[in-house]
Amino acid sequence: MPYTVPKLEDYSPAALDKAVQELLTAVRQEADAVSNEADWKAFRDRWMARKNGILTQVNDLWLKAAPGPAKRDVGSRVNALKVEVEQIVDGAQQRMSGAASRARLGSERVDITLPGIHKPIGAEHPVIKTMNEIVSVFRNIGYSVAEGPEIETDYFNFEALNFPPNHPARDTQDTLFVVGQEKKRQRDRLLLRTHTSPVQIHAMEQQPPPIRVVVPGKVHRADTADATHSPIFHQVEGLAVDTNITFCDLKGTLDHAMKALFGSDVKTRFFPSFFPFTEPSADVSVTCFKCGGKGCRLCKNSGWIELLGCGMVDPAVFKFVESNGYDPAKVSGFAFGMGVERITMLKYGIDDIQLFFQGDVRFLEQFV
Ligand code: PHE
Repeated sequence: MPYTVPKLEDYSPAALDKAVQELLTAVRQEADAVSNEADWKAFRDRWMARKNGILTQVNDLWLKAAPGPAKRDVGSRVNALKVEVEQIVDGAQQRMSGAASRARLGSERVDITLPGIHKPIGAEHPVIKTMNEIVSVFRNIGYSVAEGPEIETDYFNFEALNFPPNHPARDTQDTLFVVGQEKKRQRDRLLLRTHTSPVQIHAMEQQPPPIRVVVPGKVHRADTADATHSPIFHQVEGLAVDTNITFCDLKGTLDHAMKALFGSDVKTRFFPSFFPFTEPSADVSVTCFKCGGKGCRLCKNSGWIELLGCGMVDPAVFKFVESNGYDPAKVSGFAFGMGVERITMLKYGIDDIQLFFQGDVRFLEQFV
């Protein structure tokens, strides 16, 4: 029989005690029977609903009906009763949510002795690794690092580097142009930079002399892919401008850099060359780091490996940035540029440049 609130006739302390005890016994029994959320809500409402819940009935049937002299005693018992019933209702809810979370923990238990899921972490690409090595050699001797856009204007890629419009020297760098720009002036036309040298101009426009900067970056040429050519490759450019910079400084700097990169016993050799933006210009070779200069397949029996282009900054280039302090009568400087893929191939004995771009993990993981 579910509990119902009795009317009281006897308001003696003993009778009140008995009524209170019966009520508490009933609420405890019902609390114990609660086993899920819906049960608990029904239980709570049955006892605590403002409208006609059991506590409200107690208020009406016991307190309001009590004769004057008994009101005080009945009032304090009813208040205590309310507090106790609330605690029992809360307790039932806690017991239930405790049981629910234990059930969830049980069903979601993980076996921590199973081997984990192996997620291989990536590693630096060999080209980026070499590029960072080259950059850090120059950082160690006080160079800062700059970058520039891969989409350049004709002005920065050619004109300000002293390749005049229509000059045949432009043909040495097969260029990818952005289409549909016939209406623009030639110097404003966009292209994919063919070398990192345009960043020399950006750097000098931003910073007055003295300047020492290296520029790592990606460049593009309209070359058909084969074992030694790729339409996308990387260069590291260098530029140093100050008063009294001489070809001696260029030789000493690059000799140091090549020793730092390939080992202290390599020797360097400077060969006359041509670039529109340097005068004089040179190609730099190092003694073959495989045979030590005796001659082998890597160096095609010459004992030397050609690695980079360089030269003294042509005064005609300074003319384009003269307004930022580069007066060709007062400053001088040198520049150099090297191909990162080529250096990486020579360093690791890789015979096909395409391997760098195919993304085959079996190739790449050898450099981790
Ligand atoms: N930019 C030249 C090239 O891509 C290399 C170079 C850089 C030569 C700086 C001289 C000075 O071939």
